[in-house]
Amino acid sequence: MKVFVTRVIPPDGLELLQRAGISVTQWTEKRGLSPAELIAHCRQYDALLLASDNHIDRTFLEQCRHLKVIALLSVGYDKVDVAAANELRVPVTNTPGVLSAATADTAFLLMMSVARKAFFHYRRILRGEWGFSEPTANLGVDLEGKTLGVWGLGNIGHVMAKRCVSAFNMKVIYHNRGRNEAAEKELGAVRVSFEELLAQSDVLTVHTALTPQTTGVFNKAVFEQMKPSAIFINTARGAIHNEADLIAALQQGVIWGAGLDVTNPEPMQPDNPLLDMPTVAVLPHIGSATEETRNAMSAMAAKNILAAFKGDPLPNPVTSL
Ligand code: DGY
Repeated sequence: MKVFVTRVIPPDGLELLQRAGISVTQWTEKRGLSPAELIAHCRQYDALLLASDNHIDRTFLEQCRHLKVIALLSVGYDKVDVAAANELRVPVTNTPGVLSAATADTAFLLMMSVARKAFFHYRRILRGEWGFSEPTANLGVDLEGKTLGVWGLGNIGHVMAKRCVSAFNMKVIYHNRGRNEAAEKELGAVRVSFEELLAQSDVLTVHTALTPQTTGVFNKAVFEQMKPSAIFINTARGAIHNEADLIAALQQGVIWGAGLDVTNPEPMQPDNPLLDMPTVAVLPHIGSATEETRNAMSAMAAKNILAAFKGDPLPNPVTSL
């Protein structure tokens, strides 16, 4: 059996595959594969481990129906046409759970960085402006006792909320389709309407999946319902916010700050006005980027491939085959 991997991935997953006698080819060039190249490569393999942002659309799936599995190195599967994968009977798997803590830590890091204007102060040092100090200049805000609003309180949102309660005794409110009873019990989290979430959050953190229902939700009208002192954090998917509306909301003082690990579009261009704003922190989609987490993700993806090759039930399917 042969597996094609679209990037060089951490060793834990590779070793699992190689120890099982599977031949693994990694794409080592420092450029992404075009859709046609991906199809051409995959036609020579039995499974795909997708560690890049290539889209698995109907065209790809029609050309690669022979694949025994497409194992994503991500929890998000918005780049996959799941309906077409089901119809064409190509199983797809993801990596839930193992990246929750690292991604929540990234949200926490962004929240802290925005609250204390950390990226802005760092840029002041680079510009040679660490000289004259003024007690009233460029102050941040405290987070102690503030209200954290979580939009999408699942695994990642739960860890973020736990961090915020432990570190800053923050009050947690959330908006989900269903209740998260574990978070209510453990953290005193209170489920509220979307409108209440907007009106009451001092920090509003987004942890929903990207779906047609969540695309573009954070737009002008929604930012206008938030507190002028609010911090908006997005570590989920950039397409959940309208970036032009976010820029305008920050420039006009509609909200106070923003921390983004995901942007709309990605990659963000270096001349984006967000990168110059004192109360903004942007990271290049590094939510799960720790040694431990990326190894755990590669092992999980490998286990899905091994199961597919053996004909066993897939541990982490996103398709329903
Ligand atoms: C995920 O796992 O979904 C990360 O955001 C990487 O895309």
